[in-house]
Amino acid sequence: MIYRNAGIEDIGAIRELQQRYHIATISQQDKTDGFVTTLFTEEQFKELIEKENGITLACDGGKLAAYAMAASWDYWAEWPLFQYMINELPNTEYKGTVLSTKNSYQYGPICIDREYRGSEVLLKVFDFSRRQMSQRYPILITFINHVNPRSYYAHTQKLGLDVIKRFEFNNNTYYELGYDTSKALVLGGAVT
Ligand SMILES: CC(C)(COP(=O)(O)OP(=O)(O)OC[C@H]1O[C@@H](n2cnc3c(N)ncnc32)[C@H](O)[C@@H]1OP(=O)(O)O)[C@@H](O)C(=O)NCCC(=O)NCCS
Repeated sequence: MIYRNAGIEDIGAIRELQQRYHIATISQQDKTDGFVTTLFTEEQFKELIEKENGITLACDGGKLAAYAMAASWDYWAEWPLFQYMINELPNTEYKGTVLSTKNSYQYGPICIDREYRGSEVLLKVFDFSRRQMSQRYPILITFINHVNPRSYYAHTQKLGLDVIKRFEFNNNTYYELGYDTSKALVLGGAVT
């Protein structure tokens, strides 16, 4: 498996994976094993790659196994859910630090093709992304829909993210989670 940043030429494969596991287009059978909520247009993928270098890929030969997004709050601001989260940053603390657009960024969505779940891909994609973003920000912030228990379990139990709070938006309940980006991961759990 190769872990690397996405280029413009990867957008077609990323879009295909997004389509398969996005809440609006996912099959009923796949939905119990998680879904992604944020929907990216071609232009938004392009901007994420060119301005933020913000897509990590896991590639198995020519096949895309997984992607994970990460970017500054400036990038996410055009989605209403993220605008809500940005407005709430000054009222939110993680490990004693009041959050801001300067000391934190938003990680996610992450999406792993069904064939590669339950493997080291989760940890390796996450850690590749974390390592790069740690050069710019000390704190990772993300959200998980209350009705995505697989993702909640994977992020809290396997990756070691901390639940900061729950919030409601657009008739959905979400967990907001944080992670100290200086913490490297090893297979089997988080280490400092
Ligand atoms: C969420 C996702 C990234 C997790 O990666 P993964 O490789 O599937 O994670 P793992 O299999 O290592 O870990 C998931 C764990 O959740 C457990 N799990 C699955 N369904 C569960 C449920 N309903 N309740 C509690 N735990 C559950 C699994 O058993 C597994 O734990 P185990 O290894 O101890 O058995 C991946 O499933 C995925 O891409 N899903 C589709 C898109 C998505 O949901 N993205 C996240 C958006 S926030």
